[in-house]
Amino acid sequence: MEIKITKAATLKEKPDSSALGFGKIFTDHMFIMDWNVDKGWYNARIVPFGNISLHPASTVLHYGSEIFEGLKAYRRADGKVQLFRPMENIRRMNNSAERLCLPQIPEEDALQALETFVSLEQDWTPSAEGTSLYLRPFMFGNDETLGVHAVHNATFAIIASPVGSYYKEGINPVKIMIEDEDVRAVRGGTGYAKCGGNYAASNRAGERAEKKGYSQVLWLDGVERKYIEEVGAMNVMFMINDEIVTPMLSGSILPGITRKSCIEVLKKAGYKVSERLLSVDELGEALENGSLKEAWGCGTAAVVSPIGELCYKDVKYTINNGEIGKVTQMLYDTLTGIQWGKLQDTFGWTYPIK
Ligand code: PLP
Ligand code: COI
Repeated sequence: MEIKITKAATLKEKPDSSALGFGKIFTDHMFIMDWNVDKGWYNARIVPFGNISLHPASTVLHYGSEIFEGLKAYRRADGKVQLFRPMENIRRMNNSAERLCLPQIPEEDALQALETFVSLEQDWTPSAEGTSLYLRPFMFGNDETLGVHAVHNATFAIIASPVGSYYKEGINPVKIMIEDEDVRAVRGGTGYAKCGGNYAASNRAGERAEKKGYSQVLWLDGVERKYIEEVGAMNVMFMINDEIVTPMLSGSILPGITRKSCIEVLKKAGYKVSERLLSVDELGEALENGSLKEAWGCGTAAVVSPIGELCYKDVKYTINNGEIGKVTQMLYDTLTGIQWGKLQDTFGWTYPIK
């Protein structure tokens, strides 16, 4: 694939690493390419970061035809920049695209786009502890008509943002509220796809939780409202006695890449990991009788985030005295060690940028 590069006339000043937050600052350029049902992908280009102009009838503005991905570029101690399991994101993006009737991107083209873009923007990868360059590939339907159908035109783009921690708590435990009113997704719907609509549907419950002092909600399944699913921006894991339980991939939760990586690290370290149904009643019992030892969420933005408090039907439960647990800390240290190049990558997960 040929990628035409037009560099920005002036480059922005790089931000202070201590004030990054999440997704507020953007780099100098963006990758963009267009798709038409007859032409396929065309006009792959890197251009100065800026607004995208859309027809007012553009599909994405009316029918939510949009998917996205999230991955990070990490600055290693030796100064080089590396990605973490980028092919996993590319494959998940194509699965999401299939669900939303958006076009597939050949894996090698998606990887070339990411690599070329990150290589050009790599000076934006911060080096302070816990910081990285968050990459946000996204695709949307862009037909200029109001008919409802699979799109004939689409746009794919990648933007990048230097980030610190996603939660204001950093690595300190977060407070999560179990949602028993709204649901996020159902089997047969779009729960397993990373599409904007899932997040739009989550906002009302998220707002209510925030007003009560919680970072995010923990969703229950949409049919029986009984089984634990995932949190707003991360998958969840619970250590009940010596079993680590995480909801199985049922079709309504996102198959997280951090989730998959945690499972591999835990199994290699000899832990018993079960991907299974976990009812809110079983979790409640484990909270009551003290068999719930640790709980954490995992995701690209959230990394590994200990859960220090769970609230269900206005009853508050403190987990592990509100402190980070041993297993949570081990996972955090192992994953971030590999991602930032401080530990040897025995899994073959890292992808250095030239
Ligand atoms: N679940 C949801 C709803 C998410 O938004 C994310 C973040 O991407 C995750 C789980 C974790 O996925 P990953 O580890 O691939 O970032
Ligand atoms: C990520 O972790 O990459 C996500 O996409 C979460 C996001 C909704 C902030």
